[in-house]
Amino acid sequence: MTEQFLPVSPDLTGLCRFHFEEFQPQRDIMHSLLPILTLILAWKKGAGALDLALPFMVYLDPDNLVCLKWGFDNLQGKITFTLAVNTTGWVGFGLSPNGGMMGSDIVIGGLRQNGSYFKDYYATGSSMPLVDKQQSYTLLSLSESEGQTIMSFQRSIETCDDQDIQITAQPIKLIYAYGTTDEITYHGARKGTKEVNLLNYMPRTSLPNSNYISATVNNITIPPHHTYYHCKIMNFSNLNTKVHVYQIAPVIENYDIVHHMLLYRCPSFVKRPYDKPCYQGDIGDTCFGVVAAWGVGGGVFELPEHAGIPFGGVDGSTFYRLEIHYNNPNLNAGRTDSSGLRLYYTTQLRQHDVGILTAGVLGFGNMEYNIPPNAPQFHTYGVCNTTVLSQLVNPMPDLQTFAVLLHTHLTGRKVRVGHFRNGQQIDFLGLDENYNFELQQIVSLGNIKTIKQGDEIAVECTYSTLDRTNITKMGLATTDEMCLAFIFYYPAISISACISHPNTTYLSSTNYQMSDSEIAQYENSLKTLPQSQMVSDNNANFRLFQNGIVRGMMKTPNVTCQTNASSRLCAAWISNPAGIILLLLWIAVM
Ligand SMILES: *[C@@H]1O[C@H](CO)[C@@H](O)[C@H](O)[C@H]1NC(C)=O
Ligand SMILES: *[C@@H]1O[C@H](CO)[C@@H](O)[C@H](O)[C@H]1NC(C)=O
Ligand SMILES: *[C@@H]1O[C@H](CO)[C@@H](O)[C@H](O)[C@H]1NC(C)=O
Ligand SMILES: *[C@@H]1O[C@H](CO)[C@@H](O)[C@H](O)[C@H]1NC(C)=O
Ligand SMILES: *[C@@H]1O[C@H](CO)[C@@H](O)[C@H](O)[C@H]1NC(C)=O
Ligand SMILES: *[C@@H]1O[C@H](CO)[C@@H](O)[C@H](O)[C@H]1NC(C)=O
Repeated sequence: MTEQFLPVSPDLTGLCRFHFEEFQPQRDIMHSLLPILTLILAWKKGAGALDLALPFMVYLDPDNLVCLKWGFDNLQGKITFTLAVNTTGWVGFGLSPNGGMMGSDIVIGGLRQNGSYFKDYYATGSSMPLVDKQQSYTLLSLSESEGQTIMSFQRSIETCDDQDIQITAQPIKLIYAYGTTDEITYHGARKGTKEVNLLNYMPRTSLPNSNYISATVNNITIPPHHTYYHCKIMNFSNLNTKVHVYQIAPVIENYDIVHHMLLYRCPSFVKRPYDKPCYQGDIGDTCFGVVAAWGVGGGVFELPEHAGIPFGGVDGSTFYRLEIHYNNPNLNAGRTDSSGLRLYYTTQLRQHDVGILTAGVLGFGNMEYNIPPNAPQFHTYGVCNTTVLSQLVNPMPDLQTFAVLLHTHLTGRKVRVGHFRNGQQIDFLGLDENYNFELQQIVSLGNIKTIKQGDEIAVECTYSTLDRTNITKMGLATTDEMCLAFIFYYPAISISACISHPNTTYLSSTNYQMSDSEIAQYENSLKTLPQSQMVSDNNANFRLFQNGIVRGMMKTPNVTCQTNASSRLCAAWISNPAGIILLLLWIAVM
């Protein structure tokens, strides 16, 4: 028996053994589902091996009878759960302050002969929970098959109800319980708890004898320069069979000066290890395909369970370049350092090879790109029209993006990565409204977003140069700027970067004393000039394409909840059809 309120993609990974009945959307709710239209469109019966909307999964109990899958969308401010329990009775799930019932936020549901039941409760003690006055959870589907009850439901990440528990990027205690019948009575021993970070989930793979590749510098001396980039070209020839890296962990000796670290794969013509300053015209400067990244403030990053970063093997190059950016504003002399990255790998290959695409703006050629001083909010844009990628990789598969690392230097205040299809923005692939140079980490997207051939990616950076008296160049120094997004996706294609630069050949040089209106005019010129796009493949073949376009990016939806009754709608403006139409109009007039 099945009640389906919304299409939830079937799980085909076999990780969490769900059984789904036919897909039967109900017409009356179809019209309220415009915001998740992309989700519906992405759903194809029997296609794909992973649930793109719900990429995370844990068993809540030790016997693997209670499985939770979830995914979230920061843009809509919604989190979606699917709970599958091996019972035909009632099932309950909740968020708890301490792992117990007291004070917890609970949903209970199930399927009877005459239909489904589902409600949002709160518990005041170890007794039957009370029904919440405000029902913050929405049931999406409830089904029973082969002795398993599968309940999908959704709520706002931030609800406006003090009988709910807020979901934050911190670990939270999840509780579950279930019955053997649909009569909701005491669950006895059929209950438990597990701590999970819902918004910043790491699978915490613990493999026995985990092997790792150590990519570190060895006691190098940091020169007394504000900005120093050190490059070490390494030969990892001992990996003669391909492995999958599943975890990237920083090894940091000097937290005060190590700013970011990148490991790049080298083209096959790089055949000599060395250890010296970067970007002095050495052959290793051509190693440009990022395979691992870490930024200051970041921690360990673990890849999704079905994907790994390919490493080693006989066909590729065995040479890699470790780049460490040292930020030494006090110009200390004689500091030594042995920092780097530790890449944990497995020889049991996962389903997909992960690739990392670098997008955004980098200074290139001898074209000027200067950010004027005294600008409170100066915007720069880097675009990547994936049509140009398909000229190098054809056919280009759908790129399933799952994480992003955003990168600017000191004056960066915001970074947004827009995703466009047929000339219209359909989503954001990354969003940081409060960019902090001291806190750069690889962020999981919450769901898997698909880049199709022909889609465009635009990286927008907002800088504040109020504390500067001279222009800021696009360049490599900490005091220069860059605007980059490292986009983690699978399956990997042989493209390392797709970046752009406005063609400023005929733009007159910037005078550093510009009025506000001159700044605005100059910003607009940079945005409307044809954008030169540079694409590089894994073997350092560069191709230049003219006439990229910067399209208008939509406003970041405001999903914070206010507690007064009139604004109880929270994020509702975006989830109702009128809101969507407004949004589309907004995009259309940009
Ligand atoms: C379904 O049955 C249960 C008990 O058997 C009853 O409490 C409930 O009201 C019924 N629901 C509907 C929609 O008829
Ligand atoms: C739970 O039920 C599913 C579906 O019937 C089944 O595939 C799975 O093996 C069961 N799990 C356990 C631990 O019994
Ligand atoms: C690191 O290098 C410094 C200076 O070159 C040297 O004094 C020191 O002994 C070295 N440390 C190690 C552990 O090799
Ligand atoms: C890389 O290292 C291996 C093992 O040390 C060596 O056999 C191989 O020749 C090296 N490759 C190059 C191009 O130097
Ligand atoms: C401003 O920066 C430019 C380019 O870096 C430099 O040539 C110029 O001397 C600087 N002007 C001042 C007043 O510092
Ligand atoms: C900039 O535009 C000019 C004129 O269209 C063109 O000749 C030149 O190749 C372009 N430069 C780049 C780097 O795209």
